[in-house]
Amino acid sequence: MDTLRIDKDTRLLVLTGAGVSAESGIPTFRGGNGLWENHPVEQVASPEGFRRDASRVWRFYSQRRAGAAPCEPNPGHLAMAEWERKLGDRFLLATQNVDGLHRVAGNQRMVELHGNLFTTRCSRCTREPFEDRLAYPDGTVPLCGECGGMLRPHIVWFGEVLDERNLLRVGEFLERKDTRLVFLAVGTSGAVYPAAGFVQAARERRGETWLVNADPADNTLLFHHFVRGRSGEVLPALVTID
Ligand code: OAD
Repeated sequence: MDTLRIDKDTRLLVLTGAGVSAESGIPTFRGGNGLWENHPVEQVASPEGFRRDASRVWRFYSQRRAGAAPCEPNPGHLAMAEWERKLGDRFLLATQNVDGLHRVAGNQRMVELHGNLFTTRCSRCTREPFEDRLAYPDGTVPLCGECGGMLRPHIVWFGEVLDERNLLRVGEFLERKDTRLVFLAVGTSGAVYPAAGFVQAARERRGETWLVNADPADNTLLFHHFVRGRSGEVLPALVTID
C-alpha cells in the first residue's frame, strides 16, 4: 500500500465524511441503505421541512441521536487523533460528520462543518447552542426555555450556510506558507460543497492530495492518490510521521 509521509516541514489537513463512522455502526447518507434513501432530504433536513412539520424533523433526529449515542470511535478515528497528538498545530481536521466521534477519539484541532447531532439551538432567539442528548421519538417539539420558540437540531441543513468561522479556519490553514500542504479526504462521496471543493483548493496551493474511500468518490480524479478501502483498516497504516 502507498504510504503518506509527513515530515517536520509538512502540515496535514484532513476532511472526513460519513464513511469514517460506518465501521462504528452509523449509516452513511448515499448509496444502498443510505439515510437519504428512506428520508427525503427536503422533509427532514431543510428549513422548509422544519417549518412544515417540525415534529417529523425531531422524530428523525431523535432516531439519529438514539442510534449514534452508543457508538464508539473505530481505529480510523483513533489514528486521526494520534496524528493530531504528533503534529500539533500542523494538523487540522474538518469533518462533515455530526456524530461527535472525532472528539470522543481525542481530536481537538477540529471544525464540525455541518454542526453536531448532540447540540440544540433555538430557531428564534440568539441563545447559545447547548449540548442536548434528549430524544423525542413521539414527535414532541421541544420549546426554548428563554423565548418559547421551537428548538431545533444544531445541524446545517440544505439551503443553509456554513458557519463562516469554520470556513475561515480551514482557509487560514490552507493559506499557510510555513510548511508543505498535504490534504487527505476520507469516507466522503465528494457530492456536497464546499467540502467537496477542498481538494481543488489544496491543489491550487500545490498540496499533495489523497483520498481514502470504500468506493470511488464523485471527485476522485482530482486526487493525486486514491487508496480504496475501509478507513478503519487503511488509516492506521497509511501515515508515517518522521
Ligand atoms: P456520503 O454518504 O455521501 O458518502 C460516504 C462515502 O463513504 C461513500 O463514498 C462510501 O463509499 C464511503 N464509505 C463507506 N464506508 C466506508 C468505510 N468504512 N471507509 C471508507 N469509506 C467508506 O457521506 P458524506 O460524503 O459525508 O450533510 O456526505 C456529505 C454530507 O451530505 C453529509 O455531511 C450530510 C449529507 O447530506 C448534512 O446532513 C448537512
